[in-house]
Amino acid sequence: MKRLTVPKIRAHKADGETKQPLVMLTAYTARQAQLLDAHCDILLVGDSLAQVIYGLPSTIPVTLDMMANHAAAVVRGSYHAVVVVDMPFGSYEASKEQAFESASRLLKESGAAAVKLEGGEQMAETVAFLNQRGIPVMGHVGLTPQAVNVLGGYMARGRDDAEARKIVGDAKALDEAGAFAIVLEGVLEPIAIEATKAVSCPTIGIGASAQCDGQVLVTEDMLGMFERVPRFVKKYENIAEVIDRTVAQYAEEVRARSFPSADQTYQPKKG
Ligand code: KIV
Ligand code: NA
Repeated sequence: MKRLTVPKIRAHKADGETKQPLVMLTAYTARQAQLLDAHCDILLVGDSLAQVIYGLPSTIPVTLDMMANHAAAVVRGSYHAVVVVDMPFGSYEASKEQAFESASRLLKESGAAAVKLEGGEQMAETVAFLNQRGIPVMGHVGLTPQAVNVLGGYMARGRDDAEARKIVGDAKALDEAGAFAIVLEGVLEPIAIEATKAVSCPTIGIGASAQCDGQVLVTEDMLGMFERVPRFVKKYENIAEVIDRTVAQYAEEVRARSFPSADQTYQPKKG
């Protein structure tokens, strides 16, 4: 299987017949990437690693080094999916030149194919600048977690008409700037459908709509690693319970000296 390419993703508007929605999940480690790769079109090294891996309260403290290191691991662990890396807060907003500097570092240090950044119309110029210089960009509008301090929380966006208009306008601006896909996060479904119809690149929904051209979730959320998850997450498994049960058994056997048994120990040769 050859690795998928960004142009193939950009051309992938799910039409319900020949083209099914794109499958995207987050990945932060090599082994995780290995397990997800064959099932996914896109692996996102999301800055959600802040909460998922590092126990941070938001994505604000994430650094370029953190993103580059995890992205490199994900590239090493995959050979089929397109690997996209999140630009961390503070690494791209000041200017298009700052964005190029940061994005080129991420691609050079990790081998990933593209970056993702948050923001709509105000980032369009940056998206075009990067794209024209060899760095494909995925957009991200609606609920943009890096703006938590401005938004005041992680609630769904587009509840009033002005905000709804802005989200659709943001998606259009990114599309026209050459974004190869746009994540629509936490937006009312009618807005997600309208934005999807309004752009030529695929939209990827999270808390958006099944009518988007693709879907993404945080892998640990959908596997059930966490008790509390946003409403838009479907828990496909309860991995936390599997781990708890398994580790409890290990602890019990260690304390009872029933692990390790003969199978797991080396004995001198007989005779
Ligand atoms: O960081 C992340 O995991 C993301 C996805 C949820 C879209 O940006
Ligand atoms: Na993110």
